[in-house]
Amino acid sequence: MKKTTAYLLPLLCSTLLAAYGCRQPSKPTTPTVSTAPQHTFTQNGSVREMNIWPENMEFPEREGKAEFVSYCGICHSLKYITAQPAFSRTTWEAEVHKMTEKYGAPIDSAISHKIVDYLVAINGE
Ligand code: HEC
Repeated sequence: MKKTTAYLLPLLCSTLLAAYGCRQPSKPTTPTVSTAPQHTFTQNGSVREMNIWPENMEFPEREGKAEFVSYCGICHSLKYITAQPAFSRTTWEAEVHKMTEKYGAPIDSAISHKIVDYLVAINGE
């Protein structure tokens, strides 16, 4: 190795290091949704929090809403559910059953019953 290269190489390396190596990786910013109110619920014994999108606040207030909003919006929008035609209780039961059995929705039977009651009340035949 030539003498000049032997001096220049470390200089070049440290310049490159200074320019790129020491740069802080930009921190990912967590998007905050100020308009979405926090909703607290209990699932499998632990307390969880989630943001409710404003559209989800529009559903009628009654028994079972909290469960419906908490569990049925995990995988798809809630509007996807209420955009269905008015179903009979049997059909809503089958739908909720399909979500838990086929798609793995983490909903126990007590909560499922509440959700079915809610769905029949707001979008039943
Ligand atoms: C674990 C994920 C998951 C959860 C939680 C979930 N669903 Fe679904 N849901 C799905 C999938 C997957 C589909 C099918 C989507 C498709 O076919 O494009 C679906 C579709 C639907 C449909 C459309 C009709 C159909 O049968 O495909 C309805 C109605 C529905 N879900 C209702 C509910 C209700 C009510 C709840 C709450 C009890 C719920 N979902 C919770 C995964 C879920």
